[in-house]
Amino acid sequence: MNINHPSFGKIDKNRVIFFDTTLRDGEQSPGFSMNLDEKLRMARILTELGVDVIEAGFPVASTGDFESVYRIAELIKDSVICSLARSGGKNDIEKAGEALKPAKRKRIHNFISTSPLHMKYKLRMEPETVLEIIADGNKKARQFTDDVQWSAEDGSRTDPDFLCRCVEVAIKNGATTINIPDTVGYSTPEDMRRIFKDLLERVPGADQVIFSCHNHNDLGLGVANTIASLQGGARQVECTINGIGERAGNAALEEITMILRTRHDEFPYDNRIISKKLLNASRTLSTITGFDVQPNKAIVGRNAFAHESGIHQDGMLKNAETYEIMTPESVGWNRSSFVLGKHSGRAAFRDKLKSLGYDEFSDEKLNEAFQRFKTLADQKKTVYDDDISALVDDEVRDHEF
Ligand code: KIV
Ligand code: ZN
Repeated sequence: MNINHPSFGKIDKNRVIFFDTTLRDGEQSPGFSMNLDEKLRMARILTELGVDVIEAGFPVASTGDFESVYRIAELIKDSVICSLARSGGKNDIEKAGEALKPAKRKRIHNFISTSPLHMKYKLRMEPETVLEIIADGNKKARQFTDDVQWSAEDGSRTDPDFLCRCVEVAIKNGATTINIPDTVGYSTPEDMRRIFKDLLERVPGADQVIFSCHNHNDLGLGVANTIASLQGGARQVECTINGIGERAGNAALEEITMILRTRHDEFPYDNRIISKKLLNASRTLSTITGFDVQPNKAIVGRNAFAHESGIHQDGMLKNAETYEIMTPESVGWNRSSFVLGKHSGRAAFRDKLKSLGYDEFSDEKLNEAFQRFKTLADQKKTVYDDDISALVDDEVRDHEF
């Protein structure tokens, strides 16, 4: 790979470009639409997080989308701003170019379906027509910017020989990034690894462009497929905060980031994401959309660094690495939390008492308070700090009178 990219210059072979589509594919999911102010707020969070490319919207789809892309292009200068367009849409590419006018660095992302199913039923087009549209679309997009991305919609279900022809045509006509989406989240990691490896080996000019993956999560494999795509040679990952997106969503940015951090020896792909800002990005998006992530969501869920079982809490007090593979601080949490419940043990209970200011406890008093706590924990799902204070204060009073 010896690429001189129009937006990023010379790119190191292990550098991964993070392309965030929270404001486009993410926003396309039911109930997740955002108004202009919310999009601007989120765009600021994304650029501060270190996202390289922000896909800001689909300008031809609505005047609201056009305005959001325009205003984000005015506001954000540290990320490339990207605008979506159909390769063969009537005004799509012109609108995308217009909406990107104020951008310091801009990308037009044009796409068309390439799978037999989509060409026959959705587009009602012959493969040769699709090839002509790919050529025209990319040529037209290059009139507005040197940074042009082309996507083969439903690319993972496309005949491999035809996919090679499509990619070759896109490159010859000016595309500098080639994205192969797993649009319906059907592929396995092995499929994605092979698709990128094949394209890189077979398509003339493939070493002059960046290959990109865009994995949907219908089988829960979006993130795994993203890592496999990198192993196959992709160097751009498309993702969203909290994994929001069409149907079951897109690959989650926070999960990809932390796989690349915690397993860097096996996946030595460098990026600009500032992991300490992940929790804030997730929470801001939840506040804007009104949808919390599930408690057990990796990295950013309420329970991601919470420990209830006595055995785990005891291990954590001895060495946090016993039950945590990354530090909570590295992704923006203040600390791990010990949730006291019926599975908690004496060590965690003593630790909790200390943190609440009760540190002068004899073993006998501690045992009695611990028995009361266990009785309470059997009755309540969660025992809060106030419950513990009340229980200990009762214990002290009982001994005084
Ligand atoms: O999933 C998909 O195929 C897409 C394309 C528009 C890139 O979102
Ligand atoms: Zn998508």
